[in-house]
Amino acid sequence: MLRNEAKQVLRVTLMIHGGAGAGGPDLDRAQRPGCFSALKAGWDVLLAGGSAVDAVVASVAVLEDDPGFNAGVGSVLTSAGGVEMDASIMDGSDLRAGAVALLRETRNPVRLARALLVDGRHVFMAGPAADEYARQHGVPTCAPEDFVTPQQRQRWQDAASGAGGTVGAVAVDRNGHTAAATSTGGMDGKQPGRIGDSAVIGAGTYADDRLGAGSATGTGEEIIRLNLVCAVLGSMRHGGDPANAVPRVVPLLRSVGGTGGMIAVDRFGRFAYAHNTPHMSVGWMRTDLDAPVVVL
Ligand code: GLY
Repeated sequence: MLRNEAKQVLRVTLMIHGGAGAGGPDLDRAQRPGCFSALKAGWDVLLAGGSAVDAVVASVAVLEDDPGFNAGVGSVLTSAGGVEMDASIMDGSDLRAGAVALLRETRNPVRLARALLVDGRHVFMAGPAADEYARQHGVPTCAPEDFVTPQQRQRWQDAASGAGGTVGAVAVDRNGHTAAATSTGGMDGKQPGRIGDSAVIGAGTYADDRLGAGSATGTGEEIIRLNLVCAVLGSMRHGGDPANAVPRVVPLLRSVGGTGGMIAVDRFGRFAYAHNTPHMSVGWMRTDLDAPVVVL
């Protein structure tokens, strides 16, 4: 153990985000209930002794089912008017990972990412073959139209920018194992076939028990170019506190023209978030707290 870790005790921790962006007056109504529900779903898993991986899946799946977020139901539309979703997950205990992109029919992209992680043969699948893999492996699917909400259809018709945000979760379980997951509909009006950081292990999602776990949100091209989550976790390599690393690295996004933010936790349950946007939805729960916290 490093000298600056000697006094740390393990605190079981869950942190979620619902995206970084402009914010606005309707956000509280649209996202607060979903943030609390996502925290409850993941925290119930951790309280029952479940793994960090199961906790982040539970939290992210709740956010994917909530039309107040840009993931799963409520995803923004491509320039062609369809939904194409990306997601990824990583287990910090053994570096297993699963990533999926360009999904049109998989009900919960995070569950398909997890199925890939468990299968272990491949890390990254995309497109119709990935949706087909879901069908073959018992991951629920639905019609592409089921993801399109009237609000997102209207925004697309008006060429207005989308609401909601990429979602993600990070966790530390009672065994000190870490995990991270991220899910998104991507960027508003994106070119069909475009894949963002949420499907890229290292950029949008990463977990390694020796470092911690992180999940990003924002403009995917710049997050990929900076390999953002790995850059932050790498700077925690020698026992660094996320509270120092996250606010130091996230502003670098601006230097490549990007906007966004991220959440991160280390293996003891120290956590932090930062963003260079006016707003970011975040929430957390930890064993030393009486109740979950949501900041919108
Ligand atoms: N951060 C989500 C995306 O760029 O697709």
